[in-house]
Amino acid sequence: MDVSGMMTEDTVAVFDTTLRDGEQSPGAALNVDEKLEIARTLEAMGVDVIEAGFPISSPGDFLAVQTISREIRNCVVCGLTRADRDDIDAAAEALKDAARPRIHTGLGVSDVHIKHKLGTTREGAMARGVDAVKYAKRFVEDVQYYAEDAGRADPVYLYRVLEAVIDAGATVINIPDTTGYASPDEFGALIRGVVQNVPNVDQAVIAVQCHNGLGMATANTLTGVLNGARQVEVTVNGIGERAGNTSLEEVVMALRTRPDLFGVDTNVDTRRIYPVSRMVSQLTSIPVQPNKAIVGANAFAHSSGIHQDGVLKERTTYEIINPHDVGVPESVIVLSARSGRHGLRHRLAELGYTLGDEQFEKVYSRFLAVADKKKTVDTRDLEAIVADEAQMFFEEAYHLEQIQVSCGDKSIPTATVRIRRPDGEVVCDADHGTGPVDAVYRAINRVIGEPNELIEFSIQAVTEGIDAVGRVTIRVQADEPVNGDKRQVFSGHGADTDIIAASAKAYMFALNRLIAARRDARRPHQEHVGRVCHPTGRSGLPPDK
Ligand code: KIV
Repeated sequence: MDVSGMMTEDTVAVFDTTLRDGEQSPGAALNVDEKLEIARTLEAMGVDVIEAGFPISSPGDFLAVQTISREIRNCVVCGLTRADRDDIDAAAEALKDAARPRIHTGLGVSDVHIKHKLGTTREGAMARGVDAVKYAKRFVEDVQYYAEDAGRADPVYLYRVLEAVIDAGATVINIPDTTGYASPDEFGALIRGVVQNVPNVDQAVIAVQCHNGLGMATANTLTGVLNGARQVEVTVNGIGERAGNTSLEEVVMALRTRPDLFGVDTNVDTRRIYPVSRMVSQLTSIPVQPNKAIVGANAFAHSSGIHQDGVLKERTTYEIINPHDVGVPESVIVLSARSGRHGLRHRLAELGYTLGDEQFEKVYSRFLAVADKKKTVDTRDLEAIVADEAQMFFEEAYHLEQIQVSCGDKSIPTATVRIRRPDGEVVCDADHGTGPVDAVYRAINRVIGEPNELIEFSIQAVTEGIDAVGRVTIRVQADEPVNGDKRQVFSGHGADTDIIAASAKAYMFALNRLIAARRDARRPHQEHVGRVCHPTGRSGLPPDK
């Protein structure tokens, strides 16, 4: 059955939940503009359904779902709810301008959820689920039901619930392995059991959402497909609650690479996979592990002599996917300070970046500064520069103009910073610390005075070589509540050939994000206009009732 005109017998619908489950990764909070940018990219790449958020969870999430509903035209836009009328009202309102709205409602089906989380009985939980579907149907035709923790549920009870919610009008039934507990064989058998034992199953699409608790999410999703699932729930780079979700790139490329095995495909333009992976990694400040399938830095790198020799003779000796097919840019070094604006624009366009004039000029001057120090600038340097200069989707309240550091094994690390405040005044201050980064952060704190705790700091060279650009990623936790969330986490990143400068930029990025979130929390229901940014103000799902 096809509720949205997006599937044929041979296609599997891709339901992307990067903006909902993915954003539940600690510290990944995205503001509305960042979410919209990701949604536009997902639409352009041919994803079928975008789960844009959980509208009742915060004003920021509501606004994100509403904004995405108003702009995205070629995908189903979906909002999550608990099996609760207030939640459904909020989702219906947020989705009301969507071209193809979907409400995603449901509740637990495992005994552990029913007893300990919901405090009810199997019959009570089923009745609540049926009521939620019927209520959601008053607002939208397309209602998806999630049977939370199905991976640990009694299959016979699951069949009964699914039959009842399909009777109530569910168009898609989502069978999640919420904790990532099932093995591929078990999960395949579960989906087969649903196909064989739910009498009205032909009236709904079977969806699977597998978490990666034991590292089996992709395998489980694919066995789900082999056994009859026709919607896969995924996130870009596999981000999400705990160990994350099934990753979009792995499932899409497995189906594309092995038609002999799966016999079904998706509508995704795979050449957009690498750019969207970079974008999500940069906006969430969640790095992609180098050995990550499809999108990791080493996914197409051949280091041993035997492998290099083989690939040079015939690429397919060691490559099962052509890197071009997933949009991995050629890593040849092409740009230097002499390349000029035209050369830079051309390369950025090849990498999928379309920048406005103002953004381009910022990127260009950073590019010149890096090219002066490094002589040649490659793709990875450029991506780091764009992330720093052009992908900041919030207003910067404080601007770091200059830092100066003195340190050494026999001296007290000391830093002086010059910062432009929101009122335009430029102030200078200094402090010392246990090391140069600590000294810089203390000096910045003296000027900005935003109480926070640094909870994560990591540094990575984006390219090889002693002159590499260093990329710093940090997370800070607000000491005072932001938008009702007591300990909200904000991430920041910064790139520079000088790692102390990169560290300072990352810290300023995170603090400005925190300040923007605090400012926007004071005007939560403001309409979304242009590039004004709003926080999501949320670090996870509210508890079920
Ligand atoms: O994993 C899960 O069960 C979920 C549901 C809330 C859809 O994310």
